[in-house]
Amino acid sequence: MAQATPALHPDIEAVLVTEEAIQRRVRELGAELKRTYGGAELTVISIMNGAILFTADLLRQLDNPVRLDCIRISSYGNATESQGTPKLVHSLTLDVTNRHVLLVDDILDTGKTLALVTGMIRGLQPASLRVCVLLDKKGRRQVPFEADFVGFAIPDKFVVGYGLDYAERYRNLTSIGVLKPERQKLST
Ligand code: IMP
Ligand code: MG
Repeated sequence: MAQATPALHPDIEAVLVTEEAIQRRVRELGAELKRTYGGAELTVISIMNGAILFTADLLRQLDNPVRLDCIRISSYGNATESQGTPKLVHSLTLDVTNRHVLLVDDILDTGKTLALVTGMIRGLQPASLRVCVLLDKKGRRQVPFEADFVGFAIPDKFVVGYGLDYAERYRNLTSIGVLKPERQKLST
């Protein structure tokens, strides 16, 4: 995956997933979702802010009827390490009971966020609940969690771009890259 590509941004040490690779994989994920759900209506729940770009691209691969909702979880603050227990800051507005729910997140890291959110949604008794993540840092799990659909398995590096941030920056980069270690120490 890592390759010599023109510099994405001066704060990026290396590009891990190129824009082209992301777009190709998103199309494949759309096909995987189609195989799983057929033409059924989906209630897609996107975890803000990180999953917004991925969700927007993924939704355009689907021709199913789709309802979209967003939730917000706090866990990181401005650090690159998860701080304690994630909290639900902004909750669902759509009903999910008896619905086919697809939860979308940018990255599966310790597993704490998705364990919390899937537990909460399961309590609302959806018809089905599946999880789609763009990135999976498998080596970092603190609670057991597997996603149903995974874009890319990546090594334990702090990455930004295509929705992923450090201190709310870099979300608009079109590729995903490893943030230079010296940039990870800056406050806000
Ligand atoms: P978890 O609860 O530890 O699985 O963390 C999931 C959340 O942490 C993701 O939704 C991201 O917001 C954030 N996160 C984890 N790793 C990274 C990273 O490498 N870059 C940016 N955000 C990350
Ligand atoms: Mg996030």
